[in-house]
Amino acid sequence: MSSDEIKEEGLDPEDWEALRLLGHRMVDDMVAYLRTLRERPVWRSVPTETRERLRAGLPEEGEDPERIYNEFVNHILPYPTGNLHPRFWGWVKGTGTPFAMLAEMLAAGMNCNVQGFDDSASLVEEQVISWFKSMLEYPREASGLLVSGCSMANLVGLAVARRQHAGADAQRAGLSSLARPMTLELLGLGSDALRLIETDDRFRIDLNALARAIARDRASGCQPFCVVGNAGSVNTGAIDDLAALADLAEREGLWLHVDGAFGAWAFLCDEYRAALKYMARADSLAFDLHKWMSLPYEIGCTLVRDDAAHHTAFDFAADYLKAVPRGAAAGGVRFSEYGLQLSRGFRALKAWMSLKEHGRRKLARQVAQNIAQARYLASLIAAAPELELLAPVAMNVVCFRYAQPGASEAESARINREVLFRLQEEGTAVCSSTMIRDRFALRVAAINHRSRRADYDALVAAVLRLGRALV
Ligand SMILES: Cc1ncc(COP(=O)(O)O)c(C=O)c1O
Repeated sequence: MSSDEIKEEGLDPEDWEALRLLGHRMVDDMVAYLRTLRERPVWRSVPTETRERLRAGLPEEGEDPERIYNEFVNHILPYPTGNLHPRFWGWVKGTGTPFAMLAEMLAAGMNCNVQGFDDSASLVEEQVISWFKSMLEYPREASGLLVSGCSMANLVGLAVARRQHAGADAQRAGLSSLARPMTLELLGLGSDALRLIETDDRFRIDLNALARAIARDRASGCQPFCVVGNAGSVNTGAIDDLAALADLAEREGLWLHVDGAFGAWAFLCDEYRAALKYMARADSLAFDLHKWMSLPYEIGCTLVRDDAAHHTAFDFAADYLKAVPRGAAAGGVRFSEYGLQLSRGFRALKAWMSLKEHGRRKLARQVAQNIAQARYLASLIAAAPELELLAPVAMNVVCFRYAQPGASEAESARINREVLFRLQEEGTAVCSSTMIRDRFALRVAAINHRSRRADYDALVAAVLRLGRALV
């Protein structure tokens, strides 16, 4: 077929007015949905009809946008995991906000590929990263990168650590080029090289055990290069002794990476500043915005004290991407040279709009509110003889169980697992579970800006009701 026989077409709508009306309906519907979250069950399982529809094959011809939207309303919107609901406390899943939802629409509308060219989106990313540094009092000259979440933020930090300690040879020839193999799976280090260090009675890294592990590894010819500390661990919210970890890393010549996925933000509360101010000594710091900062998924960040070290680890720019002095490709920070992604979405916009909407103080109050709620829940547990707290409440995570006197660990695990499932299946609340020193625990992570004290009262009442029915 010759080019003049091809009927040219694009993907924009033929009827712009119909799209505009549909878009308005979508905004109205989503705002109504967010306003009425509390009226629905926290979670319900996806029904068979919906499951089947969501397995159908790809249509050969396009469908009417309004029909597609109706299918979304009937089959997708009603069956989320539930993390927007006021009584959702499972894992560490963030809640999001309505304004940030709208920011996502604007970002998708602009559809920027944020690489650090001469464009507003790159400046917005630079600006929000500088705000994060100032909020967490991390050195101003540090580099930073927005990523999909804290898993990726950790990977970036550890990749810089590996590059710094393994040197250029390993970057070029792989880790097998090293005289002695170092130590992590994705980085080509092997999971055998990961040393899990014992914790103390407050679930913080045992520093003596860490020092012993380093000495043992060195004696056996291994080459430790990085210590990872937690500014709020997933299981219990424990904060490691970051000052001591920084001292030890300095003394041993090791990179210090701190995982502050949610806990880093407790720094905004006066009470936690003393424990968390040493995050500023970390060589790299990883944290999320889609958890305690309530931004919609996905957004996390890595900060690296030594900008040059960060850049060296990821500077693979091809000729066609090199910085130029003028034109569209001239710009500031070349984000694509600081991480694994070349094409990068405009995540920064929702952060920019949300931080401006709330300001630092309100976000700080929000974090403090969740911590106070976790303590409130702990006080309800302490006051109920049938409930048992399984770990100290260091921050916003509460691990507990329904405790039947005289029950074996296995029996207790069976009862509490059933309590967990029934809580979720009734749609009353979603918490998750974990093991605390080999004991099955119900786990509540309070990062939800929609929860109120009454929601925690309802949780305790439901656990007692279900526990009693089961024993
Ligand atoms: C302490 C900690 N680190 C890392 C992660 C992983 O973060 P993400 O789920 O954003 O990849 C989590 C997730 O809950 C976490 O709590």
